[in-house]
Amino acid sequence: MNLIDGNQIATEVLDELSQRISLLKPGKPCVVFVRVGDDPASVSYVKKKERTAQSIGIDARLVVFPTSISESDLLQEIDRLNADDSVHGILVQAPLPSHVNEVSIFNRVNPAKDVDGFHATNLGKLCQEQPDAFRSCTPAGIVELIRRSGIETSGKRVVVLGRSLIVGKPVGMLLLNRSIPGNATVTFCHSRTHNLPSITKEADILIAAIGKPNFVTAQMVKQGCAVIDVGINRIADHSTKSGFRLVGDVDFDEVSPKTSFITPVPGGVGPMTVAMLMSNTVQAYEQIIQTQS
Ligand code: GUN
Repeated sequence: MNLIDGNQIATEVLDELSQRISLLKPGKPCVVFVRVGDDPASVSYVKKKERTAQSIGIDARLVVFPTSISESDLLQEIDRLNADDSVHGILVQAPLPSHVNEVSIFNRVNPAKDVDGFHATNLGKLCQEQPDAFRSCTPAGIVELIRRSGIETSGKRVVVLGRSLIVGKPVGMLLLNRSIPGNATVTFCHSRTHNLPSITKEADILIAAIGKPNFVTAQMVKQGCAVIDVGINRIADHSTKSGFRLVGDVDFDEVSPKTSFITPVPGGVGPMTVAMLMSNTVQAYEQIIQTQS
């Protein structure tokens, strides 16, 4: 079994970006994070994204709104950021309060500044295999982990557990596309799938993104498969200072001995999501500057 070190690969990506950013001087990419409310996981994710951006020379700004903000007021705030020429990337941290339609918000972000890749235009461009599409950060991070670990995808059977807009659907599309890595035979499974283990057992590469702690067990995987665990589930643990610990969607102890490659939680996909956000921000800056010249 090879443990895929997401922290190390993310550091490599960030080092490369840092070099690319130094060539942009005196210009500097700027990303704005929009957070609504104080959900502890969102606070911690956005802080990590801000710190990472600053560490590689990206200007990061944070705007926070109360949970009571109306959808129309939030749309107006996004319009202001869209119109601000000093801003190259905009990220609205999900989840949003239930009275706000998340898709309406994602679709309001100028597609040229959509570093999350959630706008319909960027998702459409992904289907069209257009190179200037912003790929959403977690799917792009998974593909980068697969590429840098030397895992073959062409002609292989990929099974994606989950069909979310943020991970499941776009990661399946990326691995289906005619790219490297790509050209895989992709199957999506979800809560209505019948006979799930019979499908997951066929996977050469299994991507678990369903948000259920330790859901994938040893009986569900084939000997020698590669497993990418996207789950970040907080479970109560009174022996830790925070009172919780993070576990993935995969029962690591049980599944890892059967695998050729596996990502840990934490330290697998998580750091790559942040690294790819930085990559998208540099891409946004470069594309915006190019259209201006
Ligand atoms: N919430 C969980 N993952 C993400 C992400 O990649 N982007 C945003 N904006 N919100 C998230």
